[in-house]
Amino acid sequence: MDYLKINSVKSLNGKIQISGAKNASLPLIAMTILAKNSVNIKNLPHVADINTLIKLLSNLGADCKFLDDRVTIDTKPLHETKATYDIVKTMRASILVLGPILARFGHCEVSLPGGCAIGQRPIDLHLKALEQMGAKIEIKSGYIQATTPNGLKGCDINFDKITVTGTANIVMAAVLADGVTSISNAAREPEVVQLCEVLNANGAKIEGIGTAVLTIYGTGGKLIDIKEFSIIPDRIEAGTYLCAGAITRSEVTLTHVEPKHLGAVISKLEEMGSKFSITEDTITIHPSQNIKPVKITTQEYPAFPTDMQAQFLALATQADGVSIIEEKLFENRFMHVSELQRMGADISLNGHTATVNGKAKLCGTDVMATDLRASSALVLAALIADGETNIHRIYHLDRGYDSLEKKLEGVGANIKRLSE
Ligand code: EPZ
Repeated sequence: MDYLKINSVKSLNGKIQISGAKNASLPLIAMTILAKNSVNIKNLPHVADINTLIKLLSNLGADCKFLDDRVTIDTKPLHETKATYDIVKTMRASILVLGPILARFGHCEVSLPGGCAIGQRPIDLHLKALEQMGAKIEIKSGYIQATTPNGLKGCDINFDKITVTGTANIVMAAVLADGVTSISNAAREPEVVQLCEVLNANGAKIEGIGTAVLTIYGTGGKLIDIKEFSIIPDRIEAGTYLCAGAITRSEVTLTHVEPKHLGAVISKLEEMGSKFSITEDTITIHPSQNIKPVKITTQEYPAFPTDMQAQFLALATQADGVSIIEEKLFENRFMHVSELQRMGADISLNGHTATVNGKAKLCGTDVMATDLRASSALVLAALIADGETNIHRIYHLDRGYDSLEKKLEGVGANIKRLSE
Protein backbone atom coordinates (compact mmCIF):
# COMPACT_ATOMS: atom_id res chain seq x y z
CA MET A 1 0.00 0.00 0.00
CA ASP A 2 1.29 3.50 -0.83
CA TYR A 3 2.13 6.13 1.75
CA LEU A 4 3.44 9.71 1.60
CA LYS A 5 6.73 10.71 3.24
CA ILE A 6 6.81 14.47 3.89
CA ASN A 7 9.53 16.67 5.38
CA SER A 8 8.95 20.37 5.97
CA VAL A 9 10.74 22.91 3.79
CA LYS A 10 11.38 26.62 4.31
CA SER A 11 8.65 27.62 1.88
CA LEU A 12 6.88 26.75 -1.38
CA ASN A 13 6.95 28.82 -4.53
CA GLY A 14 5.48 28.62 -8.02
CA LYS A 15 2.37 27.59 -9.91
CA ILE A 16 -0.09 24.73 -9.43
CA GLN A 17 -2.49 23.80 -12.23
CA ILE A 18 -5.94 22.89 -10.91
CA SER A 19 -7.63 19.79 -12.39
CA GLY A 20 -11.27 19.24 -13.31
CA ALA A 21 -13.73 18.88 -10.44
CA LYS A 22 -14.36 15.33 -9.17
CA ASN A 23 -17.82 16.31 -7.89
CA ALA A 24 -18.80 17.82 -11.24
CA SER A 25 -17.38 14.88 -13.21
CA LEU A 26 -19.42 12.22 -11.39
CA PRO A 27 -22.95 13.50 -12.20
CA LEU A 28 -21.85 14.48 -15.73
CA ILE A 29 -20.58 10.95 -16.38
CA ALA A 30 -23.90 9.56 -15.10
CA MET A 31 -25.68 12.08 -17.35
CA THR A 32 -24.37 10.26 -20.45
CA ILE A 33 -27.09 7.66 -19.72
CA LEU A 34 -29.57 10.29 -20.99
CA ALA A 35 -27.71 10.67 -24.30
CA LYS A 36 -28.55 9.06 -27.65
CA ASN A 37 -25.05 9.83 -28.97
CA SER A 38 -21.51 9.12 -27.92
CA VAL A 39 -20.45 11.88 -25.49
CA ASN A 40 -16.97 13.47 -25.24
CA ILE A 41 -15.98 14.83 -21.84
CA LYS A 42 -12.75 16.86 -21.38
CA ASN A 43 -10.70 17.95 -18.35
CA LEU A 44 -11.54 14.93 -16.19
CA PRO A 45 -9.29 14.63 -13.11
CA HIS A 46 -7.13 11.50 -12.77
CA VAL A 47 -8.71 10.30 -9.53
CA ALA A 48 -9.95 6.90 -8.38
CA ASP A 49 -13.63 7.89 -8.07
CA ILE A 50 -13.83 8.79 -11.77
CA ASN A 51 -12.26 5.44 -12.74
CA THR A 52 -14.78 3.68 -10.49
CA LEU A 53 -17.83 5.32 -12.07
CA ILE A 54 -16.55 4.73 -15.60
CA LYS A 55 -15.92 1.08 -14.66
CA LEU A 56 -19.51 0.89 -13.38
CA LEU A 57 -20.89 2.23 -16.69
CA SER A 58 -18.69 -0.21 -18.61
CA ASN A 59 -19.99 -3.09 -16.44
CA LEU A 60 -23.52 -2.02 -17.42
CA GLY A 61 -22.53 -2.31 -21.09
CA ALA A 62 -21.63 1.26 -22.01
CA ASP A 63 -18.68 1.72 -24.36
CA CYS A 64 -16.13 3.96 -22.53
CA LYS A 65 -12.86 5.07 -24.11
CA PHE A 66 -10.60 6.85 -21.58
CA LEU A 67 -7.56 8.79 -22.87
CA ASP A 68 -5.59 11.03 -20.50
CA ASP A 69 -8.09 13.65 -19.19
CA ARG A 70 -10.76 12.82 -21.78
CA VAL A 71 -13.37 10.11 -22.03
CA THR A 72 -15.83 9.16 -24.76
CA ILE A 73 -18.90 7.40 -23.38
CA ASP A 74 -21.48 5.71 -25.62
CA THR A 75 -24.39 4.36 -23.57
CA LYS A 76 -26.32 3.03 -26.62
CA PRO A 77 -25.05 -0.52 -25.88
CA LEU A 78 -25.95 -0.16 -22.18
CA HIS A 79 -28.14 -3.22 -21.40
CA GLU A 80 -27.59 -3.96 -17.68
CA THR A 81 -29.53 -1.94 -15.08
CA LYS A 82 -28.02 -3.38 -11.89
CA ALA A 83 -25.22 -1.49 -10.12
CA THR A 84 -23.69 -4.18 -7.93
CA TYR A 85 -22.38 -3.93 -4.38
CA ASP A 86 -18.75 -4.63 -5.28
CA ILE A 87 -18.52 -1.28 -7.10
CA VAL A 88 -21.07 0.78 -5.18
CA LYS A 89 -19.40 -0.06 -1.85
CA THR A 90 -16.19 1.60 -3.06
CA MET A 91 -17.94 4.78 -4.12
CA ARG A 92 -21.29 5.82 -2.77
CA ALA A 93 -21.72 8.46 -5.50
CA SER A 94 -22.60 5.50 -7.74
CA ILE A 95 -26.14 6.32 -6.55
CA LEU A 96 -26.02 8.97 -9.30
CA VAL A 97 -26.87 6.30 -11.91
CA LEU A 98 -30.22 5.55 -10.22
CA GLY A 99 -32.18 8.51 -11.61
CA PRO A 100 -30.91 8.33 -15.20
CA ILE A 101 -31.20 4.52 -15.53
CA LEU A 102 -34.69 4.50 -14.02
CA ALA A 103 -35.80 7.33 -16.31
CA ARG A 104 -34.40 5.68 -19.43
CA PHE A 105 -35.14 1.97 -18.84
CA GLY A 106 -38.05 2.02 -16.36
CA HIS A 107 -36.23 -0.22 -13.91
CA CYS A 108 -33.00 -0.11 -11.97
CA GLU A 109 -31.29 -1.98 -9.13
CA VAL A 110 -28.58 -0.20 -7.17
CA SER A 111 -26.82 -1.55 -4.11
CA LEU A 112 -27.50 0.60 -1.07
CA PRO A 113 -24.35 2.74 -0.84
CA GLY A 114 -24.08 2.41 2.91
CA GLY A 115 -22.40 5.03 5.05
CA CYS A 116 -18.79 6.10 4.93
CA ALA A 117 -16.20 7.34 7.42
CA ILE A 118 -17.74 10.82 7.69
CA GLY A 119 -21.28 9.76 8.35
CA GLN A 120 -24.41 7.74 7.68
CA ARG A 121 -24.91 9.40 4.26
CA PRO A 122 -28.60 8.45 3.86
CA ILE A 123 -30.28 8.60 0.43
CA ASP A 124 -33.87 8.75 1.69
CA LEU A 125 -34.45 12.10 -0.05
CA HIS A 126 -33.38 10.69 -3.43
CA LEU A 127 -35.82 7.78 -3.04
CA LYS A 128 -38.71 9.86 -1.70
CA ALA A 129 -38.46 12.24 -4.68
CA LEU A 130 -38.38 9.37 -7.20
CA GLU A 131 -41.46 7.84 -5.53
CA GLN A 132 -43.22 11.20 -5.84
CA MET A 133 -42.42 11.02 -9.58
CA GLY A 134 -44.18 7.63 -9.78
CA ALA A 135 -41.38 5.16 -9.08
CA LYS A 136 -42.10 2.02 -7.07
CA ILE A 137 -39.16 1.47 -4.75
CA GLU A 138 -38.38 -1.58 -2.62
CA ILE A 139 -35.30 -2.32 -0.55
CA LYS A 140 -34.41 -6.00 -0.85
CA SER A 141 -31.27 -7.72 0.46
CA GLY A 142 -29.26 -4.53 0.43
CA TYR A 143 -30.45 -3.36 -2.96
CA ILE A 144 -32.73 -0.54 -4.06
CA GLN A 145 -35.16 -2.08 -6.55
CA ALA A 146 -36.89 0.68 -8.50
CA THR A 147 -39.45 0.41 -11.29
CA THR A 148 -41.71 2.88 -13.03
CA PRO A 149 -44.86 0.98 -14.06
CA ASN A 150 -46.25 4.10 -15.75
CA GLY A 151 -43.06 6.01 -16.41
CA LEU A 152 -41.76 8.97 -14.40
CA LYS A 153 -44.11 11.94 -14.15
CA GLY A 154 -43.03 15.52 -13.46
CA CYS A 155 -44.20 16.89 -10.10
CA ASP A 156 -43.33 19.39 -7.35
CA ILE A 157 -40.46 18.15 -5.16
CA ASN A 158 -39.44 19.88 -1.97
CA PHE A 159 -36.22 18.57 -0.43
CA ASP A 160 -36.36 18.54 3.40
CA LYS A 161 -32.59 19.05 3.31
CA ILE A 162 -30.33 20.45 0.60
CA THR A 163 -28.71 17.43 -1.06
CA VAL A 164 -26.09 17.80 -3.80
CA THR A 165 -26.28 14.35 -5.40
CA GLY A 166 -29.99 14.18 -4.56
CA THR A 167 -30.58 17.32 -6.64
CA ALA A 168 -28.42 15.94 -9.47
CA ASN A 169 -30.24 12.59 -9.43
CA ILE A 170 -33.70 14.17 -9.65
CA VAL A 171 -32.67 16.73 -12.29
CA MET A 172 -31.45 13.87 -14.52
CA ALA A 173 -34.58 11.77 -13.89
CA ALA A 174 -36.81 14.80 -14.58
CA VAL A 175 -35.14 15.47 -17.95
CA LEU A 176 -36.63 12.25 -19.37
CA ALA A 177 -39.88 12.37 -17.36
CA ASP A 178 -43.33 13.29 -18.72
CA GLY A 179 -44.28 16.83 -17.78
CA VAL A 180 -42.73 19.49 -15.57
CA THR A 181 -40.77 18.90 -12.36
CA SER A 182 -39.98 21.66 -9.90
CA ILE A 183 -37.36 21.10 -7.22
CA SER A 184 -37.48 23.44 -4.22
CA ASN A 185 -34.59 23.65 -1.74
CA ALA A 186 -32.31 22.47 -4.58
CA ALA A 187 -28.52 22.44 -4.14
CA ARG A 188 -26.76 25.42 -5.75
CA GLU A 189 -23.22 24.00 -5.76
CA PRO A 190 -21.24 24.88 -8.95
CA GLU A 191 -21.15 21.16 -9.76
CA VAL A 192 -24.96 21.03 -9.86
CA VAL A 193 -25.00 24.27 -11.89
CA GLN A 194 -22.66 22.77 -14.52
CA LEU A 195 -24.85 19.64 -14.80
CA CYS A 196 -27.90 21.85 -15.45
CA GLU A 197 -26.01 24.09 -17.88
CA VAL A 198 -24.71 21.17 -19.92
CA LEU A 199 -28.21 19.64 -20.05
CA ASN A 200 -29.71 23.00 -21.06
CA ALA A 201 -27.13 23.43 -23.81
CA ASN A 202 -28.11 20.05 -25.26
CA GLY A 203 -31.86 19.90 -25.63
CA ALA A 204 -33.09 19.81 -22.05
CA LYS A 205 -35.07 22.78 -20.67
CA ILE A 206 -34.18 23.79 -17.12
CA GLU A 207 -35.05 27.12 -15.50
CA GLY A 208 -33.74 28.62 -12.24
CA ILE A 209 -30.20 27.29 -12.68
CA GLY A 210 -28.05 28.41 -9.74
CA THR A 211 -31.07 29.13 -7.56
CA ALA A 212 -32.81 27.02 -4.94
CA VAL A 213 -35.81 26.40 -7.23
CA LEU A 214 -35.24 24.42 -10.42
CA THR A 215 -37.93 23.80 -13.06
CA ILE A 216 -37.26 20.95 -15.50
CA TYR A 217 -39.44 20.38 -18.59
CA GLY A 218 -39.26 16.65 -19.35
CA THR A 219 -38.75 15.21 -22.86
CA GLY A 220 -41.20 12.37 -22.25
CA GLY A 221 -38.52 9.73 -22.64
CA LYS A 222 -36.74 11.17 -25.69
CA LEU A 223 -32.95 10.90 -25.26
CA ILE A 224 -30.85 14.00 -25.97
CA ASP A 225 -27.80 14.71 -28.11
CA ILE A 226 -24.93 15.93 -25.92
CA LYS A 227 -22.09 17.93 -27.48
CA GLU A 228 -18.51 17.76 -26.13
CA PHE A 229 -17.94 19.74 -22.91
CA SER A 230 -15.16 20.37 -20.39
CA ILE A 231 -15.39 19.85 -16.60
CA ILE A 232 -15.19 22.97 -14.41
CA PRO A 233 -12.11 23.40 -12.16
CA ASP A 234 -12.09 21.65 -8.78
CA ARG A 235 -12.80 24.35 -6.17
CA ILE A 236 -11.94 22.03 -3.26
CA GLU A 237 -8.59 21.03 -4.75
CA ALA A 238 -7.95 24.77 -5.30
CA GLY A 239 -8.95 25.65 -1.73
CA THR A 240 -6.66 22.92 -0.42
CA TYR A 241 -3.63 24.38 -2.22
CA LEU A 242 -4.50 27.90 -1.05
CA CYS A 243 -4.36 26.51 2.48
CA ALA A 244 -0.95 24.98 1.62
CA GLY A 245 0.26 28.49 0.69
CA ALA A 246 -1.21 29.97 3.88
CA ILE A 247 0.15 27.34 6.29
CA THR A 248 3.68 27.43 4.80
CA ARG A 249 3.56 31.24 4.45
CA SER A 250 4.35 30.79 0.74
CA GLU A 251 3.27 32.72 -2.31
CA VAL A 252 1.65 30.14 -4.61
CA THR A 253 -0.31 30.77 -7.82
CA LEU A 254 -3.17 28.51 -8.90
CA THR A 255 -3.92 28.35 -12.64
CA HIS A 256 -6.95 26.95 -14.51
CA VAL A 257 -9.09 27.86 -11.50
CA GLU A 258 -12.54 29.51 -11.22
CA PRO A 259 -12.18 32.20 -8.50
CA LYS A 260 -15.96 32.79 -8.48
CA HIS A 261 -16.43 29.33 -6.91
CA LEU A 262 -14.13 30.11 -3.98
CA GLY A 263 -15.78 33.19 -2.44
CA ALA A 264 -16.35 31.79 1.06
CA VAL A 265 -12.93 30.10 1.16
CA ILE A 266 -11.04 33.22 0.05
CA SER A 267 -12.88 35.47 2.49
CA LYS A 268 -12.05 33.13 5.42
CA LEU A 269 -8.38 33.08 4.36
CA GLU A 270 -8.47 36.90 4.20
CA GLU A 271 -9.92 36.93 7.73
CA MET A 272 -6.91 34.80 8.77
CA GLY A 273 -4.53 37.37 7.26
CA SER A 274 -3.84 36.35 3.65
CA LYS A 275 -4.14 38.68 0.69
CA PHE A 276 -4.85 37.68 -2.93
CA SER A 277 -4.18 38.68 -6.53
CA ILE A 278 -6.99 37.31 -8.66
CA THR A 279 -7.50 37.21 -12.44
CA GLU A 280 -10.16 35.44 -14.52
CA ASP A 281 -8.55 32.03 -14.09
CA THR A 282 -5.69 32.42 -11.61
CA ILE A 283 -5.41 33.07 -7.87
CA THR A 284 -2.15 34.05 -6.15
CA ILE A 285 -2.08 33.89 -2.35
CA HIS A 286 0.09 36.42 -0.46
CA PRO A 287 0.06 34.88 3.03
CA SER A 288 0.72 36.72 6.28
CA GLN A 289 3.49 35.59 8.61
CA ASN A 290 1.03 35.71 11.52
CA ILE A 291 -2.13 33.69 11.03
CA LYS A 292 -5.23 35.05 12.75
CA PRO A 293 -7.75 32.72 14.44
CA VAL A 294 -11.09 32.11 12.71
CA LYS A 295 -14.70 31.10 13.37
CA ILE A 296 -16.15 28.73 10.74
CA THR A 297 -19.54 27.04 10.34
CA THR A 298 -19.88 24.66 7.39
CA GLN A 299 -23.04 25.05 5.29
CA GLU A 300 -24.28 24.52 1.77
CA TYR A 301 -22.95 26.59 -1.15
CA PRO A 302 -22.35 29.52 -1.41
CA ALA A 303 -21.52 29.39 2.32
CA PHE A 304 -18.33 27.79 3.68
CA PRO A 305 -17.99 24.24 2.27
CA THR A 306 -17.79 21.20 4.54
CA ASP A 307 -15.19 19.77 2.12
CA MET A 308 -12.78 22.50 3.25
CA GLN A 309 -13.35 22.06 7.02
CA ALA A 310 -10.49 19.64 7.65
CA GLN A 311 -8.00 21.77 5.73
CA PHE A 312 -8.92 24.91 7.69
CA LEU A 313 -8.70 23.01 10.94
CA ALA A 314 -5.12 22.09 10.09
CA LEU A 315 -4.40 25.73 9.23
CA ALA A 316 -6.02 26.93 12.48
CA THR A 317 -3.45 24.91 14.49
CA GLN A 318 -0.95 27.61 13.41
CA ALA A 319 -3.14 30.61 14.26
CA ASP A 320 -2.32 33.03 17.10
CA GLY A 321 -5.48 32.60 19.13
CA VAL A 322 -8.51 30.36 19.56
CA SER A 323 -10.42 29.16 16.46
CA ILE A 324 -13.89 27.60 16.51
CA ILE A 325 -14.92 25.24 13.72
CA GLU A 326 -18.46 23.91 13.57
CA GLU A 327 -19.36 21.00 11.23
CA LYS A 328 -23.08 21.21 10.42
CA LEU A 329 -23.46 18.74 7.53
CA PHE A 330 -21.87 15.47 8.60
CA GLU A 331 -21.99 13.75 11.96
CA ASN A 332 -18.47 12.34 11.97
CA ARG A 333 -16.20 14.64 10.03
CA PHE A 334 -13.55 15.31 12.69
CA MET A 335 -11.47 12.14 12.36
CA HIS A 336 -8.48 14.24 11.29
CA VAL A 337 -8.51 15.80 14.80
CA SER A 338 -7.04 12.79 16.60
CA GLU A 339 -4.24 12.50 14.05
CA LEU A 340 -3.49 16.25 14.27
CA GLN A 341 -3.46 15.93 18.08
CA ARG A 342 -0.86 13.15 17.72
CA MET A 343 1.26 15.64 15.78
CA GLY A 344 0.96 18.08 18.70
CA ALA A 345 -2.10 20.18 17.79
CA ASP A 346 -4.05 21.61 20.73
CA ILE A 347 -7.67 20.88 19.73
CA SER A 348 -10.70 20.05 21.86
CA LEU A 349 -13.86 18.47 20.46
CA ASN A 350 -17.35 19.02 21.77
CA GLY A 351 -20.01 17.36 19.58
CA HIS A 352 -20.02 19.09 16.20
CA THR A 353 -17.61 21.83 17.29
CA ALA A 354 -13.82 21.75 17.31
CA THR A 355 -11.95 24.40 19.30
CA VAL A 356 -8.35 24.95 18.32
CA ASN A 357 -6.68 26.43 21.40
CA GLY A 358 -4.06 28.50 19.65
CA LYS A 359 -0.81 27.84 17.88
CA ALA A 360 1.03 24.57 18.49
CA LYS A 361 4.34 23.28 17.18
CA LEU A 362 3.59 20.17 15.13
CA CYS A 363 5.99 17.24 15.09
CA GLY A 364 6.25 14.77 12.23
CA THR A 365 5.21 11.20 12.96
CA ASP A 366 3.31 8.28 11.40
CA VAL A 367 -0.35 9.22 10.82
CA MET A 368 -3.28 7.53 9.14
CA ALA A 369 -5.65 8.97 6.59
CA THR A 370 -9.30 8.19 7.39
CA ASP A 371 -11.24 9.93 4.60
CA LEU A 372 -10.59 12.06 1.55
CA ARG A 373 -10.46 15.55 3.01
CA ALA A 374 -8.95 14.45 6.34
CA SER A 375 -6.02 13.10 4.29
CA SER A 376 -5.40 16.51 2.75
CA ALA A 377 -5.47 18.12 6.22
CA LEU A 378 -2.68 15.76 7.31
CA VAL A 379 -0.65 16.73 4.22
CA LEU A 380 -1.00 20.43 5.14
CA ALA A 381 0.10 19.75 8.74
CA ALA A 382 3.05 17.66 7.53
CA LEU A 383 4.27 20.53 5.32
CA ILE A 384 5.12 22.58 8.41
CA ALA A 385 5.73 19.88 11.05
CA ASP A 386 9.20 19.43 12.54
CA GLY A 387 10.80 16.26 11.21
CA GLU A 388 9.37 13.57 8.97
CA THR A 389 5.70 12.63 8.60
CA ASN A 390 4.49 9.40 7.00
CA ILE A 391 0.84 9.46 5.96
CA HIS A 392 -0.59 5.95 5.55
CA ARG A 393 -3.76 4.71 3.74
CA ILE A 394 -3.51 7.42 1.11
CA TYR A 395 -5.94 5.53 -1.11
CA HIS A 396 -8.39 7.92 0.55
CA LEU A 397 -6.46 10.85 -0.93
CA ASP A 398 -6.26 9.23 -4.37
CA ARG A 399 -10.05 9.23 -4.57
CA GLY A 400 -10.19 12.99 -5.00
CA TYR A 401 -6.76 14.61 -5.57
CA ASP A 402 -5.11 14.37 -9.00
CA SER A 403 -1.29 13.93 -8.66
CA LEU A 404 -1.14 15.76 -5.32
CA GLU A 405 2.45 14.84 -4.52
CA LYS A 406 3.64 15.84 -8.01
CA LYS A 407 1.82 19.19 -7.79
CA LEU A 408 3.31 19.95 -4.35
CA GLU A 409 6.77 18.73 -5.36
CA GLY A 410 6.48 21.11 -8.33
CA VAL A 411 6.34 24.09 -5.95
CA GLY A 412 9.20 22.86 -3.77
CA ALA A 413 7.62 20.53 -1.18
CA ASN A 414 9.72 17.62 0.10
CA ILE A 415 7.13 14.89 -0.52
CA LYS A 416 7.55 11.34 -1.83
CA ARG A 417 5.07 8.58 -2.59
CA LEU A 418 6.49 5.24 -1.38
CA SER A 419 5.13 1.72 -0.97
CA GLU A 420 5.08 -0.19 2.32
C1 EPZ B 1 -21.81 15.72 -1.97
O1 EPZ B 1 -22.15 14.56 -1.23
C2 EPZ B 1 -20.32 15.65 -2.22
N1 EPZ B 1 -20.02 14.44 -2.99
C3 EPZ B 1 -19.57 15.61 -0.89
O2 EPZ B 1 -18.18 15.66 -1.19
C4 EPZ B 1 -19.94 16.87 -0.10
O3 EPZ B 1 -19.30 16.81 1.17
C5 EPZ B 1 -21.46 16.94 0.09
O4 EPZ B 1 -22.10 16.91 -1.20
C6 EPZ B 1 -21.90 18.22 0.79
O5 EPZ B 1 -21.45 19.32 0.06
C7 EPZ B 1 -20.27 14.45 -4.32
O6 EPZ B 1 -20.74 15.42 -4.88
C8 EPZ B 1 -19.92 13.19 -5.05
P1 EPZ B 1 -25.55 15.66 0.41
P2 EPZ B 1 -23.70 14.16 -1.05
O7 EPZ B 1 -26.56 14.73 -0.14
O8 EPZ B 1 -24.49 14.57 -2.22
C9 EPZ B 1 -28.14 14.67 4.24
C10 EPZ B 1 -15.95 15.02 -1.07
O9 EPZ B 1 -15.17 15.18 -0.13
N2 EPZ B 1 -28.92 13.83 3.32
O10 EPZ B 1 -25.50 17.06 -0.10
O11 EPZ B 1 -23.73 12.72 -0.65
C11 EPZ B 1 -26.73 14.14 4.47
O12 EPZ B 1 -26.71 13.20 5.52
C12 EPZ B 1 -17.36 14.55 -0.79
O13 EPZ B 1 -15.70 15.27 -2.27
C13 EPZ B 1 -30.03 13.16 3.82
O14 EPZ B 1 -30.36 13.26 5.00
O15 EPZ B 1 -24.11 15.04 0.19
C14 EPZ B 1 -25.97 15.38 4.82
O16 EPZ B 1 -26.18 15.68 6.18
C15 EPZ B 1 -17.54 14.14 0.65
N3 EPZ B 1 -30.77 12.38 2.97
C16 EPZ B 1 -26.64 16.48 3.98
O17 EPZ B 1 -27.92 15.95 3.63
C17 EPZ B 1 -30.43 12.26 1.64
O18 EPZ B 1 -31.16 11.54 0.90
C18 EPZ B 1 -25.89 16.84 2.72
O19 EPZ B 1 -25.65 15.66 1.99
C19 EPZ B 1 -29.29 12.93 1.16
C20 EPZ B 1 -28.57 13.71 2.01
